[in-house]
Amino acid sequence: MIIERVSSGIPELDKKLEGGFPENSTTAIIGAFGTGKSTFGMQFLNEGLQNGEHCILISLDDDEEAMIRTASEFGWDFQRYVDEELLLLMKLTAIDIKTSILRIRSELPRLFELFGAKRCVFDSITLFEMLFTGENERRLIVYDLVQVMRNSGATSVITSELDSSNPHASRFGMIEYVSDGVIFLNYHRRAREKTILLSIEITKMRRTKHSRDIMAYEVHRDGIKITTDGAHSDIFKC
Ligand SMILES: Nc1ncnc2c1ncn2[C@@H]1O[C@H](COP(=O)(O)OP(=O)(O)O)[C@@H](O)[C@H]1O
Ligand SMILES: [Mg+2]
Repeated sequence: MIIERVSSGIPELDKKLEGGFPENSTTAIIGAFGTGKSTFGMQFLNEGLQNGEHCILISLDDDEEAMIRTASEFGWDFQRYVDEELLLLMKLTAIDIKTSILRIRSELPRLFELFGAKRCVFDSITLFEMLFTGENERRLIVYDLVQVMRNSGATSVITSELDSSNPHASRFGMIEYVSDGVIFLNYHRRAREKTILLSIEITKMRRTKHSRDIMAYEVHRDGIKITTDGAHSDIFKC
């Protein structure tokens, strides 16, 4: 069976993914703060919006106005898409855990169905996970959230912070197991050159023969750009 592919919004990344994310998959974008996770999410949505797809952006730290402002700095006109009812922006406030659980379990599935979203971004799962003190409750709700996204039929991106003591794991070590795909964004301090290099790698992507190259990327005024194809990945050895 041929798997439909959904462009990530980064052409060089799509080439390494047999054309893009598998349709209806959920991919975790894991990285330290400032590596470009939120930018990745917005770029992924902008790609769909340009093609007339319905998209949902759920943010835990930005309100609707801030999301529109940040996107506009990259030249992505989210306000226009909101006006056209193609884009739904949703700030998930940490009022209390019960409200959050209720919203995830009952409101969100209805919203997805009503809106007919093709793409969804959840930014970030870490802020959401931090609402829960009980490990079991946290695991159950993250599992539920991923199921809700999958059942909706949308192709999703979920951002996550890194674990401070393990650069190969998310903060709570859960999202990489329940997601279909995992992409890591890392930074490398180059003391001699007095600069920081950014690298992107695909760690997991179900139903895809993906590349395992470590690629350099930069965040530009118009979004994320991959600058090497992995052939020079030895530059990251430090
Ligand atoms: N409009 C812009 N033009 C160029 N670079 C930007 C712009 N906005 C943000 N950046 C760069 O991208 C980095 C990543 O931002 P962001 O996506 O918010 O990271 P994260 O969500 O991982 O914390 C910022 O720290 C900054 O260096
Ligand atoms: Mg962010």
